[in-house]
Amino acid sequence: MTTGFPLFPPGFFFGAATAAYQIEGAHDEDGRGPSIWDTFSHTPGLTAGGATGDTACDHYHRYPEDVALLRGLGVDSYRFSVAWSRIQPEGRGPANEKGLDFYDRLVDELLTAGISPAVTLYHWDLPQALEDQGGWRVRETAELFGVYSALVAERLGDRVGRWITLNEPHCSAFVGYAEGRHAPGAQEGTGALTAAHHLLLAHGHSVRALRAAGAEEVGITLNLDRIHAASDSAADLAALRRAETLHNDVWTEPLLAGRYPLGEAETWGAMADGSYRREGDLDIIGTPLDFLGINFYRPLTVADAPVPDHRTAVDIGVRETDPYGTRHTTMGWPVVPESFTELLVGLRDRYPQLPPLLITENGSAEEDTEEAGAVHDDDRVSYLRDHLQALKAAIDAGVDVRGYYVWSLLDNFEWARGYSQRFGIVRVDYESLRRTPKDSYRWYQSLIATNRDHHATKQDPS
Ligand code: FCB
Repeated sequence: MTTGFPLFPPGFFFGAATAAYQIEGAHDEDGRGPSIWDTFSHTPGLTAGGATGDTACDHYHRYPEDVALLRGLGVDSYRFSVAWSRIQPEGRGPANEKGLDFYDRLVDELLTAGISPAVTLYHWDLPQALEDQGGWRVRETAELFGVYSALVAERLGDRVGRWITLNEPHCSAFVGYAEGRHAPGAQEGTGALTAAHHLLLAHGHSVRALRAAGAEEVGITLNLDRIHAASDSAADLAALRRAETLHNDVWTEPLLAGRYPLGEAETWGAMADGSYRREGDLDIIGTPLDFLGINFYRPLTVADAPVPDHRTAVDIGVRETDPYGTRHTTMGWPVVPESFTELLVGLRDRYPQLPPLLITENGSAEEDTEEAGAVHDDDRVSYLRDHLQALKAAIDAGVDVRGYYVWSLLDNFEWARGYSQRFGIVRVDYESLRRTPKDSYRWYQSLIATNRDHHATKQDPS
């Protein structure tokens, strides 16, 4: 009998993901210091509707209810992030025990529910005190990130097996320091490239600190892009190569190939002087990984753009086009599941020594309809089904992918887009903070149960 659910290999795990600033709220409780996202969201005009994460989903107080939702869903693992400024309000110095206590309680609640925690140490919320000293433009921030990683691992390491150092450093460096659409809202060319290097270095210091603390599985999460050229003209193909450098190679080459991107001179021009690099950095950055986390939402198409692009200080002479004649989500992102397969297969072909992959985020923002206590979200169900099928196709093609986390458990604060974009498989009413599982929650629950039953039956044919 076919259930219509893709069936994954034995041992493949399912999860759901969130991030601290997007759900926790309690922005000034128990000694938490401000992060760059508090400052950014409180600056008039920078987020949709002036939204902030002050309350968000109030997960800080409602985490038992959220863990119960995860248990009901049947996931094996929950990916959440730790807010650096809860642990070190100023980004340095001794640990704030009350901050650690919160994550301690959350981890215990998860383990009691039979769910294994996966901790992201940095999901974009740099302590504001560090930004005041230069933020990711400053080398010391990378070293401090190693110290912070050790503090968290010392407290949670006896119960947390899976660690992710950074989430999408591309966004931290280029959306935060070059485009300015994200905190800290800077628009700098060299500053953004320097930030990218220091983020890589921070990752390396963190991997070493985590290993020293006995961590079992350590990785990083990247939002690599499947990029197409708008045409096969020489100019568009050159634009594609520059976009590959900016979006992908900046991260994958130092992490996986022990070198800086080959196309960087052509891509950065005068912006990069490399003065922020030191001998030995590549060794730290390239500390071996147990897995590589991939976040995937949509593909990109680029064309040559000879006219300067004033939207970003890292102007590489490309513009995005949208040739996809498909449905778009409310983010305006085209839904092209086969590009997910292509990204994964292409990555494996390019880096034969690739560590196992985890999909650490995948999901969609949609218009949901509430009706008599139910929330209907057919578009999200079809997005998830098609992307899980595309993932299965990559696994069938021999790519080693070990697990999948849906983004996101809850509707939440979608950064500069505020609360206007709903990514959750559970609806959050931002007035009452009531949680209502959507149809996609039930669908994912059935997919997980079907996979579990399938393997249980295979193991025990009686
Ligand atoms: C990713 C982020 C995550 C969320 C999704 C929609 O880039 O990691 O926090 O905003 O996009």
